[in-house]
Amino acid sequence: MEIIKKIGDLNNVKRSKPLALIPTMGNLHQGHLSLLKKAKTLNLATLVTIFVNPLQFGPKEDLETYPRSLDQDMEKLIEEDCDYLFLPKKKELFEGIKYLKAPLSDQLCGQNRPGHFDGVVTIVHRFLELIKPEFCLFGQKDFQQQLVIKNHLENENLPTKLILGPTVRDKNGLALSSRNNYLTNKEQEEAAQIFKCLKIISETIAINKSNGGEDFLIKNLDACKKLKNQLQKKGFDVDYLEIVNANTLKKITVSDSEILIAIAANFKGVRLIDNIYLELPFS
Ligand code: PAF
Repeated sequence: MEIIKKIGDLNNVKRSKPLALIPTMGNLHQGHLSLLKKAKTLNLATLVTIFVNPLQFGPKEDLETYPRSLDQDMEKLIEEDCDYLFLPKKKELFEGIKYLKAPLSDQLCGQNRPGHFDGVVTIVHRFLELIKPEFCLFGQKDFQQQLVIKNHLENENLPTKLILGPTVRDKNGLALSSRNNYLTNKEQEEAAQIFKCLKIISETIAINKSNGGEDFLIKNLDACKKLKNQLQKKGFDVDYLEIVNANTLKKITVSDSEILIAIAANFKGVRLIDNIYLELPFS
């Protein structure tokens, strides 16, 4: 694996194969590594970035304490046969950076994290313009993030194609996230309840599916409200638990067929997000 620290050295990246960018903030887990594996199976050259992006953290968020584990990360990347690791210096990366406004940033996580997706899109755009990869890979766990980037690529007519990787989960169902490290094992077991709720809702949707129309919507939204209350009682501070159109992230209507059941909740001071994507035959 070649480690690149200076922007000018990105010119050394060989372009004999199409290049896949996998942007990360480090503290790599199987979720990140599954994206690397996916790129490898598609016979792409791989470039991982590790950069804890200050632009996407709110003033009361965990920028200072965000887990950093560069040595272990590098070992994992070497083991997975990653081709390039880009470790930019903040000063150089931010010289001449264009601050961008993210699409879809007024929905879901955007409502309680103002500026978060603007920060994400700004840094990802910077990587795209410096690296010019043919592909970029994002995980489904951060569904809104990948949709923001997908829309940005389309709106700006950028040539990079987005590849989506599935959410990787612990045995108990908890979606892997670097922030899970803030929780004890027991707390992680409890945190897995948010995925159980998503599953219950998706099963409710399947049951109510045959019964189309407004009634269908009311039943599913009632299920969300009930589960949200149950989670609150168990110590989760639920930011949202919603069923939305998977392309617009707006509340579903009877005619939507691609839907997302999405949740964000704070548990023991840790923000957890998760989702289930469903395609429904509505007619
Ligand atoms: O998903 C992340 O880790 C970050 O939001 C990303 C895409 C690396 C941008 O900083």
